[in-house]
Amino acid sequence: MTGWSHRHIIDLSSFSLDDYAAVLELAKKFDALPSTGLRKLPALQGRIISTLFFEPSTRTRSSFELAAKRLSADVISFSSSTSALKKGESIIDTALTYQAMGANILVVRHKSNNVPAQIASELDKLNLKAGVINAGDGLHSHPSQGLLDLYTLSKFFNHEDPTPNALEGKCIAIVGDVMHSRVARSNLWALTGCGANVILCGPESLLPNEFKDFVANPPPGQRKDPIGNRGKVKIERVLKTACKDADAIMTLRLQKERMQENYLSDLDSYHNDYGISLETLNHCKKNIPVLHPGPVNRGVEISGTLLDKSGTCLIHEQVCNSIPVRMAILYLVSGL
Ligand code: NCD
Repeated sequence: MTGWSHRHIIDLSSFSLDDYAAVLELAKKFDALPSTGLRKLPALQGRIISTLFFEPSTRTRSSFELAAKRLSADVISFSSSTSALKKGESIIDTALTYQAMGANILVVRHKSNNVPAQIASELDKLNLKAGVINAGDGLHSHPSQGLLDLYTLSKFFNHEDPTPNALEGKCIAIVGDVMHSRVARSNLWALTGCGANVILCGPESLLPNEFKDFVANPPPGQRKDPIGNRGKVKIERVLKTACKDADAIMTLRLQKERMQENYLSDLDSYHNDYGISLETLNHCKKNIPVLHPGPVNRGVEISGTLLDKSGTCLIHEQVCNSIPVRMAILYLVSGL
């Protein structure tokens, strides 16, 4: 694929419209494979993908591994509880060990911000050619989730032609614990990058006012935003008002394990104010899709009855789409 330059994918702030288009175009191709009867492609035969998860995961790890296997790569996975980390080995030395075994791509998740970036910079410093894909670091970034949400939404809005254009001018409400969500941060870059407007909705304790300017501030070290004209971001505290104009709702888990202190006194009133339920949908456009990255707290950020209502909830589609999107990411990164 011409024009692709990301040997590491740490966050989406440096993604151009062509980058989003490249991922979506390839994902569409990989998505169509099972219907042709083809389960596997030889594209990454002989390559080694290593999944280094220093934090628990169900969906992200399994789908990266499945995506790698669908492309015929060898997969070595690491689990912190049974590794030499327990004997005091550092994270960087662990990563270098997998690189020494021949890993071409390291897929890294860690509970602290910037660990994947530190591994990538160490590899670059040592002139080692392995790529690093961030599979979620602290509160910072979860780029592959942002990309699979982008694909899911573009497919919903334009099933035949799921390109970034499908998002142009759409309004997406991201609801709930934005402050602790790396998924929200990655979606903010991806959605506004493809021309969608984002309404952030949540209580001030979980959604500080500064989030309004999030995409106006590229990270330190990045001189220029590669996207000239992003969609707008606004904050709305009242759920009904946020939902009224939305074309899709993305709700977020209340991420207690990432909170330094208890930001909420009462889960019932949180659910009443910010939980998405069948009742919420009465205030929305007809047939509005509801997304959630999972894992879900039933009855907190989303009601059980809505969760089980297929057609409205795209959670199952998000999981299905995670495989072709992660195949696309692995394929593109492995080409450099
Ligand atoms: C998310 C994560 O780990 O950040 N989950 C995921 O990867 N599917 C969201 C969450 O933890 O709530």
